[in-house]
Amino acid sequence: MINEYIGVLDSGVGGLSILSELYKVMPDKNYIYVGDTKNIPYGTKTPFEVYSYTKDILNYFLKNNVKNVVIACNTTSAVAYDELKKEFENKLKIFPLIQSIASYAVEGLKDNDTIALLATRATVNSKKYEQEINKINSKINVVSLDCTGFVEIVENRLYSNPKSIELIKSKLEIVKKSGARRVILGCTHYPYLIEIFKKILDVEYFNPAISLAQKVKNEINFKGSGEIKFYSTINPDEFKKSAKMFFDIQDEVGLINL
Ligand code: DGL
Repeated sequence: MINEYIGVLDSGVGGLSILSELYKVMPDKNYIYVGDTKNIPYGTKTPFEVYSYTKDILNYFLKNNVKNVVIACNTTSAVAYDELKKEFENKLKIFPLIQSIASYAVEGLKDNDTIALLATRATVNSKKYEQEINKINSKINVVSLDCTGFVEIVENRLYSNPKSIELIKSKLEIVKKSGARRVILGCTHYPYLIEIFKKILDVEYFNPAISLAQKVKNEINFKGSGEIKFYSTINPDEFKKSAKMFFDIQDEVGLINL
């Protein structure tokens, strides 16, 4: 029998923060993870570029016995999912990140509460979080911050570089002033920075990974064997080093040319 896989995609190691939660709640499934490191960052690209990169990954998944796909990338969910859905809906079941978790992100918030969103430029510009949140409660204020540069800190492991800390502080200062009591980690790379965030600003941080994993678990049913295959589209050794916080990958990371 041919193994079935869940395809998980992101521009780099960020989506591993999602994959680790998927694996926690479904250790019996098989996964193919693709980090598109050749095209990272997605957050400063146009919607069409992000759509094209992701389309190639979805076609790769189709050839590799994937039937369910988790878009472990806020940027792709924000700017390309609607188009991709039209194109792939008869071939793949796709779980987009933002649309799947928005209701969990605002659980317990009341009218006129403020929630802050840390995300890539493309996600912020798309206003997708605001739209999804305001469908649930139009009286919640969303303060969205373009955190361009955070992804590079994670991919290049620049956690203790003074410039990184300065950049993070400047963004969290704005969050503090906004009065938000909850912050959405609106890019899958940001859970890698959570300990730094907590030291700078003591608020509630919402990591979408747990809610997304539960949702996927409720809707997927096939028998696997717990196999995970990792791929990147350039520099697999660098990918492996940067992945460490969420996956200490022992096997080789494959290189795919899309
Ligand atoms: N980790 C991705 C996200 O959740 C993309 C980051 C990037 O490549 O800019 O938005």
